[in-house]
Amino acid sequence: MSLLIRNGEIVNAGSRMVADVYVEGETISRIGKDLEAPPGTEVIDATGKYVFPGFIDPHVHIHLPFMGTFTKDTHTTGSQAALVGGTTTYIEMMAPSRNEDLMAGYRNWTALAEGNSACDYSFHIGVTRYDDQTEAVLRELVAEGMTSFKVFLAYKGFFGVTDAELFRTLTLAKELGVTVAAHCENDELVAQLQQRLLAEGKGGPEWHEPSRPERVEADGTAHFATFVELTGAKGYVVHLSCEPALEAALAAKRRGVDLAIEVVVPHLLLDKSYAERPGFEGAKYVMSPPLRDRRNQAPLWNALAAGVIDTVATDHAPFDFKGQKEMGRGDFTKIPNGIPTIEDRVNLLYTYGVSRGRLSLERFVSAASTRAAQLFGLYPRKGVIAVGADADIVVYDPHYRGAISAETQAMNVDYSGFEGVEIDGRPSVVTVRGQVAVRDGEFVGDPGRGRLLRREPASAHEGAREAVAG
Ligand code: URP
Ligand code: ZN
Ligand code: ZN
Repeated sequence: MSLLIRNGEIVNAGSRMVADVYVEGETISRIGKDLEAPPGTEVIDATGKYVFPGFIDPHVHIHLPFMGTFTKDTHTTGSQAALVGGTTTYIEMMAPSRNEDLMAGYRNWTALAEGNSACDYSFHIGVTRYDDQTEAVLRELVAEGMTSFKVFLAYKGFFGVTDAELFRTLTLAKELGVTVAAHCENDELVAQLQQRLLAEGKGGPEWHEPSRPERVEADGTAHFATFVELTGAKGYVVHLSCEPALEAALAAKRRGVDLAIEVVVPHLLLDKSYAERPGFEGAKYVMSPPLRDRRNQAPLWNALAAGVIDTVATDHAPFDFKGQKEMGRGDFTKIPNGIPTIEDRVNLLYTYGVSRGRLSLERFVSAASTRAAQLFGLYPRKGVIAVGADADIVVYDPHYRGAISAETQAMNVDYSGFEGVEIDGRPSVVTVRGQVAVRDGEFVGDPGRGRLLRREPASAHEGAREAVAG
């Protein structure tokens, strides 16, 4: 099967040009002007549209046992929603709890995804305990191509690691050349503040943010950075939400700590007033770190535009309002944390980043695709429109106008945190390794096409960033 995408503006992290893209089988085989289409080739006219590399979401939870319940998406619904929104690869945090066996957890997560994901996927290996057996399994999984770890400095007793475990995880990561992603909040401060607020009778969702204030995250970020520094490992701060945490991360980077920074769409666009909505509506907006005061958004956008923040992910964690978020009525510490976003990330970042003049097209591509590929050992197979790359392609229509609604979304969850929010564009065609998966907002692909991506250690791609700008 061959595919010719004609006359679109190809946008990579370091270049833009109007040209044709020819795909043979699963791979981009030619890029140029006025390419011939042999008989049998499907031709897609991309005139007036952008041709982007498939977008990569490096932080999602599809299957997540958490806070006494499970996220609602399956790999079928989550991957199709991702594709409708232009995301062709996701990296899921597989996270068994502290008392579960890590290898059994990995087998469970891969079995759930296998044959059920419509797009390609990989896993960050959640390290929720560290002992000799864990270390042996981690070595095995890295050899299998799962070349990133994930730790939580929060959620102690469930996912959270001790400082000794953090040190050993980073030491192993340094030895193996893999990156450690971290949720950075000081868990003891969270626990103390939660108890104090509840004792004062403050149990509504609006008290979630005061229980995890900006300083708690800044402290967690500085703490993680210190451990990364003293082990010489590569760190990746997930869902950084506020200026004090950004300052902590930047201070570490200035002294040479190898730290990459991720932000997520909810922190860029929503603020804590959403979690203060009356009638328990605010529960829809409870995530950790929490939605912040709006003054934090400009520093995040500026750092993103400057390339100081590396990636924009979602932290997709879909819990229904009915029956799940409701578990925390009267006690915000029992509201399952998370805001579903896997479907909307690209359109929201395009609209409120590129279309509103905050981000160049190239930075948009870098932050939503290329940088994640580089940091997590997928580049140049993913994250770039280039000869030899996988033909994961998004033909994007910047003239489309619409609004987000739970009524029409593909995500398997009963609300949208972005209900009614307008978008200035959407993918008109999305391909997964050369096969069309989405046309004009509808999934039309093979529900089981996705493959588990085995990745290189990021250290194998040290030079990759220099190969492309942005
Ligand atoms: O609120 C969030 N972030 N839920 C998902 C779990 C996590 O912390 O990433
Ligand atoms: Zn987290
Ligand atoms: Zn997460």
